[in-house]
Amino acid sequence: MVRVKVPATTANIGPGFDCLGIAIDIYNTIEVEEYGEELYIKVVGEGCNEVPCDQTNLVYSSMQKVFDVVGYRPKGIRMTLINEIPVARGLGSSAACIVGGMVAANALTGFRLGLHELLKLAVQADGHPDNVVPALVGGMTAACLEGEEVLYVKMDPPPGIKLAVMIPDFELSTVQARQVLPDAIPVKDAVFNISRTAILVASFLTGRSEMLAVATQDRLHQPYRKALIPHWDDIFFYAGKWGAKGVFLSGSGPALVAILDEGNVTFIDRMKEAVSAFQERWEIRMVDFCRNGA
Ligand code: HSE
Repeated sequence: MVRVKVPATTANIGPGFDCLGIAIDIYNTIEVEEYGEELYIKVVGEGCNEVPCDQTNLVYSSMQKVFDVVGYRPKGIRMTLINEIPVARGLGSSAACIVGGMVAANALTGFRLGLHELLKLAVQADGHPDNVVPALVGGMTAACLEGEEVLYVKMDPPPGIKLAVMIPDFELSTVQARQVLPDAIPVKDAVFNISRTAILVASFLTGRSEMLAVATQDRLHQPYRKALIPHWDDIFFYAGKWGAKGVFLSGSGPALVAILDEGNVTFIDRMKEAVSAFQERWEIRMVDFCRNGA
């Protein structure tokens, strides 16, 4: 039997749209074996009532992509999906299914595909590299596509900071959150984002945190997606009030992430109190960086 543990990811980090991502310590686990002649899928945990258990299951269809490339046809597959990553909240649940399925299929077939071949397949399946790359390699990554090739740099998590995720109780699909984006943005907004992305990466690499409030600002996607997230302004206000160094939309949302100083021990309780007045329920939790991917 093959067992794959794949981390959740938070993408964009504000201005690094479709480029930056961080693996965090919330995991989906896939246990899979070739068995019998049929497909049997059991889902435990997040999404257990909504995730399909047939051929359309994303983990299974991602496994098929690897089987197709290596020319393998298993008779039957039996798998259990133990999910901790909330579905459709901007925490890379789809990327985790894609990467987890591909890594599992590669292991079942004798590791015939290398890292870059898996990355290429995973990016083709997810459409952008900012979730699948950190899900596969861990850490914080900057990634881009050069034709079909996926180029990436993995960075160590910056010292002295930690992350808090703020997850509302409703789902938002990436498709829906991309539909609200404009086809073009003004050059001044592009410059705004490029400069902040550069400062953000430079700050992380040099261990500086004093510019993160500015470095996590964005004009490419967040202003358009803001209307999809109730209490956006309140959460930014309270997070800043209780010491967040920067706040950003996690991937395409609806979860938000706050960057905190390691010593900030009161943030979670204070934010829990602040969001308790909201109509929808928000889960506020501390997460750690995940240094290794699937
Ligand atoms: N970069 C993607 C987006 C991430 O923001 O649409 C999707 O999780």
